[in-house]
Amino acid sequence: MNSSHIPATCTLLLAALSASVTLRAETGYDAWLRYAAIGDPAIRQRYAALPAVVVACGNSPVIGAAQEELIRGLRGMLGRTLRVEAQLPRESAIVLGTFDAIKKAAPAINVAADLPDDGFWLKTTTLNGLQYLLITAPNDRGVLYGVFAVLRRIGLREPVSPLDEKQLPYAPVRWVNEWNNLDGTIERGYGGPSIFFEKDNVRSDLSRVRDYARLLASLGINGCAVNNVNANPRVITPEFLPQLARLAEVFRPWGVKIAVAIDFSSPKRIGGLDTFDPLDPRVADWWRNKAAEIYQAVPDLAGFVLKADSEGRLGPSAYGRTHADAANVIARALKPHGGLIFYRGFVYDHRMDWRNLKNDRARAACDNFIKLDGQFEDNAVIQIKHGPIDFQVREPASPLFGALERTNQAVELQITQEYFGQARHLVFLVPMWKEVLDFDLHASGAGTPVKALVSGKVFRRPLGGFVGVSNVGRDPNWLGHHLSQANLYGFGRLAWNPDLSARQIADEWTRLTFGHDPRVVETIVQMQLNSWRTYENYTGPLGAQTLTDITGNHYGPAVEASERNGWGQWHRTDEKGIGMDRTVATGTGFIGQYRPPVAKVYESLETCPDELLLWMHHVPYTRVLHSGKTVIQHIYDSHYQGAEAAEDYVRQWDSLQGRIDEQRYLEVLARLQYQAGHAQVWRDAVCNWFLRTSGIADANGRAGHFPNRVEAEAMKLEGYQVVDVKPWEAASGSQAVQCASPSRQCSASFRHQGQPGWHDLSVQYFDQNNGVSRFKLFVAGQLVDEWLASDSLPTRKIDAHSSTRRSIAGLALRRGDEIRIEGQAQGDENAALDYLELHPSRD
Ligand code: GCU
Repeated sequence: MNSSHIPATCTLLLAALSASVTLRAETGYDAWLRYAAIGDPAIRQRYAALPAVVVACGNSPVIGAAQEELIRGLRGMLGRTLRVEAQLPRESAIVLGTFDAIKKAAPAINVAADLPDDGFWLKTTTLNGLQYLLITAPNDRGVLYGVFAVLRRIGLREPVSPLDEKQLPYAPVRWVNEWNNLDGTIERGYGGPSIFFEKDNVRSDLSRVRDYARLLASLGINGCAVNNVNANPRVITPEFLPQLARLAEVFRPWGVKIAVAIDFSSPKRIGGLDTFDPLDPRVADWWRNKAAEIYQAVPDLAGFVLKADSEGRLGPSAYGRTHADAANVIARALKPHGGLIFYRGFVYDHRMDWRNLKNDRARAACDNFIKLDGQFEDNAVIQIKHGPIDFQVREPASPLFGALERTNQAVELQITQEYFGQARHLVFLVPMWKEVLDFDLHASGAGTPVKALVSGKVFRRPLGGFVGVSNVGRDPNWLGHHLSQANLYGFGRLAWNPDLSARQIADEWTRLTFGHDPRVVETIVQMQLNSWRTYENYTGPLGAQTLTDITGNHYGPAVEASERNGWGQWHRTDEKGIGMDRTVATGTGFIGQYRPPVAKVYESLETCPDELLLWMHHVPYTRVLHSGKTVIQHIYDSHYQGAEAAEDYVRQWDSLQGRIDEQRYLEVLARLQYQAGHAQVWRDAVCNWFLRTSGIADANGRAGHFPNRVEAEAMKLEGYQVVDVKPWEAASGSQAVQCASPSRQCSASFRHQGQPGWHDLSVQYFDQNNGVSRFKLFVAGQLVDEWLASDSLPTRKIDAHSSTRRSIAGLALRRGDEIRIEGQAQGDENAALDYLELHPSRD
């Protein structure tokens, strides 16, 4: 039936039905591979000429996955199921296969292209008057990538006929690392427990692994190290190898090879030797035999990742040997099997004397590795974090990228948001990664950006590329926050083509993940693109790093946590000034690790960019920035700006209600509301700390002044007791009240003394992870809200990590009305409260 024959009411009904179909609840599980149905007839028309048949030349698992994916994608987006034929039919067809396979199956079709492995060619060609769409490549994996590229084009509403498009990966190494422990926990993972391991074994149900491998393949990622770099040596014991083999088998059809992180002391810990000295021949033999044994079980293992001599992990220093000695003994064992060793450049002393102003953790990578340049085997790759310290909110590019000329290298980017709000705060990391990847280190004259160095293009290295620490988990949306998926997507897209812009990536991802409604696309892209700056604004200013609990959970504010300990994430803040002096002239000399054109810019206060000022220099609070503001005023202003921007995300997201499926809409909304509250916790902690320490007032009068706030400790308390909070900046007024009374049912109340009228109220309370307290809010005796403190934030304490906001809008208040909060403690959580804040309602 043609729609012109349908009565108008029916058309309306159909439209309503199709809208509700596209907006059906989504869990986020399918991420950017949703293959949402294309309803618009004009757009469908673009694909009308697509053939009805698919022919796959070759029968490898990868080609099989490619064919299935093509069928699945077209069925989802166009509602058409391709017919599978074994041979070239006498009608138009989509033909999949490597160059060789197509040549064999259809000699008349001319396929020849100069492409490296994993590259692909999408080519419309005509033979005997029939049109064929070839998806072809030098290897099977390239064909799979070609299929994903065609499907992405359709998902983005781009034409697919005629096509003549060649793509090649920017670098051979495009890996993810998963810091999964064998017990099923994930180090710095925020999306639920491991998809790989449970109770010290590989999980029996590996369907999530299959689906993850598919997501990775869609981005061109070809390697996955499945276990934590803080490795359990058991992963390569004979009893575990069959389990690894099961994992590899699940990854295989998607062209992703698995790798494992190893423990350098394995020859001793699991091998029965009395040594793990890399120069001892028995140790070399042990690794050689071990590699042979592993490759028996997993013949296509990609290789090993090794964290040695770092954060307590044993390494070659135990025997006075070098990192090259350590890497090479293993590299030689892997070489006959085609395996690689990724040796992490993240080597530093975490017991440094903080009193010595010349000590500097940022120097460690160069100090350790430059002298070894040229000594590593050619199947060894030094895996270097993008910045010299550790995934801080703002770091310069590591100088080591520009210093290694005769050694393979790869950049390590962190997708999991360890220092970036742990998937509770929206932070799109691609703009930050782009800045680093595009940064010119002048390694061999001008024009040597980090991306070219790590890919081996500058010094013509055979290997190199990109590693992303991903840490997906069993949460339905993989990463804990729907919008965090853009980071995994962005990592993969950049690893394939680092020349893509952050906007392009955000735009693609949003369309594929949330659809093409222009308002949705514009809003989400804008939020994503601003989010790094927003987060930086309310966390660590001007390169002072993320001012968080450095020795603990790395989550909320704790300004002094980085000081007076050996971990070296110092910002050296005192009453007079702030920042690490890393100059050559008077500081640690770190800046001298860059090539002269870069060093010159950082060394001088005049030319050092504001955003890295405190990374490179120690300055008084009154130092005037290029922006014209003093450092201290910048700290106040940026924190207020950042918190306001976070508040605004809630409004922006709100405007998308009804344009996004309800489930994802509500889940993201809850995260953004939480973020807005926590951004305020950050703002207040940091501003109060600097106000007290510097003694310099905020020129705009905000820091330290909270006219609409009623501290819990100032309320009428029944059952509640006042407690001091540590560190002092973690709570407003440095105190909270907790309900530790025997009945564990407490209340805090006050009378409204302000203007009568509509008000919005926020309750700042503490949601620890060791109990589920219940709160009730009463206004003039009437219950107006009730909730549970049931989130699982990363702390058992009353502090800035547990500090959480509950907002209640539109309360009609009269002067003298009693506002009362009742808290009921549960478990070890004492229904603690910080303050209440009242604001006249906006409208
Ligand atoms: C960070 C992180 C650790 C991790 C380490 C690494 O320090 O906090 O959990 O083990 O990096 O990259 O090895």
